[in-house]
Amino acid sequence: MVASRRGSGSITLPTGQTMAIHTRTHEEEDLPHATKKTMADHLRKYESLFTLTPQRMRMIVEAFKDSLELGLQKPKQVVPMIPTFVFGWPTGQESGDFLALDLGGTNLRVCLVTLQGEGKFEMTQTKYRLTEEQKQDEGTKLFDFCAECLKTFIDTNFTDEDGNSLLKPGELLPLGFTFSYPCYQTRIDHGELIRWTKGFGVKNTEGRDVAEMFRQSIEKYELPVQMTALINDTTGTLIASHYVNPKTKIAVIFGTGCNAAYMEDVKNIEKINDLGISEKDQMAINCEWGAFDSFEHEHLPRTKYDTIVDETSNKPGEQAFEKLISGRYLGEILRLVICELIDEGVLFLGQETYKLETPYVFETAFLSLMESDPTDELLMIIGIFTHFFAVETTLAERQFFRALAMLIGRRAARLSACGIAAIVGKMGYLDEGCLVGADGSLYNKYPGFADRVHEGLIDVFGEKGNNIKTVHAEDGSGVGSAIIAAMTKVRRDAGLYPNV
Ligand code: BGC
Repeated sequence: MVASRRGSGSITLPTGQTMAIHTRTHEEEDLPHATKKTMADHLRKYESLFTLTPQRMRMIVEAFKDSLELGLQKPKQVVPMIPTFVFGWPTGQESGDFLALDLGGTNLRVCLVTLQGEGKFEMTQTKYRLTEEQKQDEGTKLFDFCAECLKTFIDTNFTDEDGNSLLKPGELLPLGFTFSYPCYQTRIDHGELIRWTKGFGVKNTEGRDVAEMFRQSIEKYELPVQMTALINDTTGTLIASHYVNPKTKIAVIFGTGCNAAYMEDVKNIEKINDLGISEKDQMAINCEWGAFDSFEHEHLPRTKYDTIVDETSNKPGEQAFEKLISGRYLGEILRLVICELIDEGVLFLGQETYKLETPYVFETAFLSLMESDPTDELLMIIGIFTHFFAVETTLAERQFFRALAMLIGRRAARLSACGIAAIVGKMGYLDEGCLVGADGSLYNKYPGFADRVHEGLIDVFGEKGNNIKTVHAEDGSGVGSAIIAAMTKVRRDAGLYPNV
């Protein structure tokens, strides 16, 4: 006979929905599930696969620094180190009304930002969820959708109660377009898409000027808008975070994708030496560091699960660093480990497990929830497995899943620390210290992610690692985009536009 105890409770899902859970906790020895000892044995194996020693981290940092340097010297390198044509830091006095359109990995956002100077701003925004079909459809359709959403936003925010436009005849609203995918830029309002990332596969767009494609949609919908700048989310985050706190020197995004930006002396960006830009200038660099170690796979410690994630993705070989770190992939890595243990007959014997067999069903948000489960019986984990995957778990299994989530989450944070350490080391920021503006769902919502990044920085640099602090960034894609649009206007008025 199976001894069991019953209980009930509720959990709140990432969607905000509250779910009642009725639990029946079996006595472990009576079930065909994995025992405590077997799970502990397996865990040891995964610990050695997913743990990064300080020594290994330092080796990664050195290789990373070399890749950053190479990207500055020559065009079209693995880490492309993209010159953004955003010149220098904001003064903090930028002001005025600006629109921002942010095409991210998960949502499309339209914002109206009022910069008030002195590092202050106000913002109104509307968010639209992108469907999986839109992420694989035709490019022109995606940009038309962006223009449609922009039209609705302008109609709502720039008309009076009687439906009359609040804009003067011929008035054009300046717009910053935050496009968070790697683009080569030769001007601030231009960008040739190198490749889609984060699972996007929109057709007829790679290799084309996405700013121009969007401009055509703006014309088609006759919008009173002038797109003045094409911006990566990291560049926006860098500028927005510096606008409110000038100690910020680096910006990072750890969300669906991952990337970093920082400010470089133009004289060090050898590959654009022939453009005639003053050597005294500074320019923000969008590193696109998610591509670090792509194709050759020489430096990063990839497990077989990482190789499967890569090979079954729509872009095999690409974004090698991002695939170990970002929110799009962590849940999938964990799912692959679970599937392996199901195949080996260790987990869920005698239960239907087909719901766990679909790629990407195990969301990274579940890892966050599992790590933050406060109950002794790990009720949250019971809820996830019964509600989403219709399987029952023993306490030993749940403890194992939680420990596994920790290993995968911790590795992501420590690798992120390696990237930050590479920029800090290259730029010589360690002694004086600096702030790193950080944003993205992983950074903001994954429990302990920021602390683990800081631990990682101390493992790389020793005590001096304490001089480098990540801080929650200002909204780069909205506010940053507006500030950059304002900075561009100043350069344009001074006759320095378009590219010098
Ligand atoms: C993109 C970057 C972006 C990052 C964070 C990556 O997949 O290549 O351009 O900054 O995601 O959104």
